[in-house]
Order: sequence, then structure tokens, then C-alpha cells
Amino acid sequence: MKLYDIGIVGSTGLVGRKILEVLEQRKFPVGKLHLLATEKSIGTQIDFKGKTYFVEKLTADVLSGFDFVFFSAGGPVSKEFAPIAAQKGALVIDNSSTFRMEDWVPLVVPEVNPHKVLKHKGIIANPNCSTIQMVVALKPLHDKWKIKRIIVSTYQSVTGAGQYAVDQLEDEVHKVPMRKQKFPHQIAYNCFPHIDIFYEDGYTREELKMVNETRKIMEEPALKITATCVRIPSIGGHGEAINIEFEKPFELEEVKKVLSSAPGVVLQDDPMQNIYPMPIWAHNRDEVFVGRLRRDETIKNGLNMWVVSDNLRKGAATNAVQIAEEYILRKSV
Ligand SMILES: NC(=O)c1ccc[n+]([C@@H]2O[C@H](COP(=O)([O-])OP(=O)(O)OC[C@H]3O[C@@H](n4cnc5c(N)ncnc54)[C@H](OP(=O)(O)O)[C@@H]3O)[C@@H](O)[C@H]2O)c1
Repeated sequence: MKLYDIGIVGSTGLVGRKILEVLEQRKFPVGKLHLLATEKSIGTQIDFKGKTYFVEKLTADVLSGFDFVFFSAGGPVSKEFAPIAAQKGALVIDNSSTFRMEDWVPLVVPEVNPHKVLKHKGIIANPNCSTIQMVVALKPLHDKWKIKRIIVSTYQSVTGAGQYAVDQLEDEVHKVPMRKQKFPHQIAYNCFPHIDIFYEDGYTREELKMVNETRKIMEEPALKITATCVRIPSIGGHGEAINIEFEKPFELEEVKKVLSSAPGVVLQDDPMQNIYPMPIWAHNRDEVFVGRLRRDETIKNGLNMWVVSDNLRKGAATNAVQIAEEYILRKSV
């Protein structure tokens, strides 16, 4: 079996460590493995498949000789180093938002637009975590009833903001001195409608990512979609309340049937038995969980649903590894 040489930039972070976990669990054929991060992490030991690896400092020189380099170290690092890795022959799978809206960069969710993997010029972008779980749930419905408009409100885990965000929540809960303040406000026992930076028009960058990335992945540039993104003190996954208006009339039972057989989707919809998606159940799982399906009687062809997925797995690491798998599969056909 062919083995692939892999680099992980941001290997000590929440997403980087999860990528390693996913590569191992999915038995990805890893050959040479290099774990990269900042100078402060040089020598950090990380185990993979029973072997101990030592973290190295990211430099342009170390980016040679890879088949795939996964980037999860933030936008500026991707901007500077991803083109170098690509130019040196690797296929870069980038978790930052730097390249997502570039015309020449495929933005891929394998359950939705897998055919795009072969259209790369060295870099494939992994979409925003909230966008990934939403499009996995919406694509099968769009194919059948055509979506006219989406209104989405998110309830996003602190893990979506990196290790320092998790540390802040834990320090606040345990009432110990804060190691580093990641958020502008207390997050324990609180929530705020503020993820990423604000723009002049009042929207946040996270909200615009959901709008623009959804249109690009679903290849529907005129799709009507509006988002409100909220940070909550949960760990394990993001929740999304999604209101959809379809062009065509639908039967609720038919919606459930379509979602039950949709790739990557698990229907968890038995509210009378208190069964509906929750981050504690989605934690460390790869699927997108959908429930609370009900008609919106205020509009024609309206549907309400609740969607939860682990933002570090399907929202980041799993989707990135699936992109590499999809590429290998299609390339060898
Ligand atoms: N968390 C999520 O749910 C999620 C989902 C989708 C996408 N993403 C994206 O993934 C990226 C990483 O997120 P995260 O949550 O894993 O953050 P994190 O826990 O803060 O980890 C950041 C990682 O980047 C490394 N790093 C930072 N600056 C670097 C530099 N100049 N050179 C080399 N390495 C550097 C850090 O290394 P040190 O440990 O040495 O500092 C660490 O390994 C971000 O772009 C984020 O937007 C995150």
C-alpha cells in the first residue's frame, strides 16, 4: 500500500492534535510524519500509532518532501507558508479562512462537493466549522426541494476558538487566576453574539463566512442566507437552529426519510423521549446530528431544524482528512 508523507502545521493546537487522532483512527496510510509549531513547542513529544514524535519549528525549509500538509495554525501562518508548501510539491489542506473564497481554491465538504478535490492548484480549503455541519444537513434537502432562504442562529462551543479559549472557560469555572484572556467577556455562565471581528454593517466575520462559504460550496451564488453566531460555554460541538424556506412543498416524514439516508447525517429526533442532538452526544463523533424537525407554519414550505456536530472533528480535522482520502481515491481511479 502506498504511504503518504504528512506534515501538520499547528500540531500542538486543538485542531492539529485532532487531525493526528483522526489520521490514526481512520488508518490513513501515513509514511513520514513531521509535526510543526512555534519555537516554544520545539521538542514537545506527541505519540502517533505507538511512536513518539518531537515537534519541530515551522520554517520554509522543513516544508519539502510532503504529499500532504495540513495547516491549522491560523490565517497569517497559512498565508505565508501554505503557498511555499504547495510550491514544494505538497497538496495543502488549509483550515484557516485565508484562501476559502479565492476562485482558484476548492472549498470542499466531501459529502457535498467531492468532485472539487481534483480542481486544486496546490491548496484545498477546509470550510468554516459552522458551515460544514450546516451544508452536510442541507444539501440532501436542497437537492430534493430546492432551498430559497436560510436563517441560521449558532450556539458555538469554546473549542472553536482554540486552546486558550478552553483554558479561559476552565479558569473561570474553577475560579483560579486566568492564564490568558481569549474572549472580550467572561464566557463561563454567559454567552455572547460575537465570534471573530465585527464589520461596519454590524455583522461578524463568522456570520459572513457562513453566508459566503455556503453559497460557494453549494454552488448557489444567489442563495438567500442570513446568520447570527453566538459563543456559548459548551465543549463538544456547535449547535445550530436553522429555519429553511423551500421552493417546493414537502412532507415532514419525507424530510426525515431523506435525512436518515443522507451521507454523514444521523437523525436524532424523538423529542417525546428527550432525544435531540446535543454537544455531549456529538463529542468525538464524525457525524452531523439533526433533530427537532418541525414545520414553520408562518411561511409556505417552511422547516425548522436543530443541527449539532463536533466542530473539532467534522468541523475541522475529520473533514480535512476526508479531503485527503477523497483526493487519493479520485486520483487513483
Ligand atoms: N477550533 C476549531 O473548531 C476550528 C475549526 C475549524 C478551523 N479552525 C482553524 O484552525 C486553526 C487552528 O485552530 P486551533 O483551534 O487548533 O487553535 P489553537 O489550539 O490555538 O492552536 C494553534 C496552533 O498553531 C500553532 N501556531 C501558532 N502560530 C504559529 C506560527 N507562527 N508558526 C507555527 N505554528 C504556529 C500553535 O503552536 P504553539 O503551540 O507552538 O503555539 C498551535 O499548534 C485556526 O486557523 C482556526 O481558525 C479551528
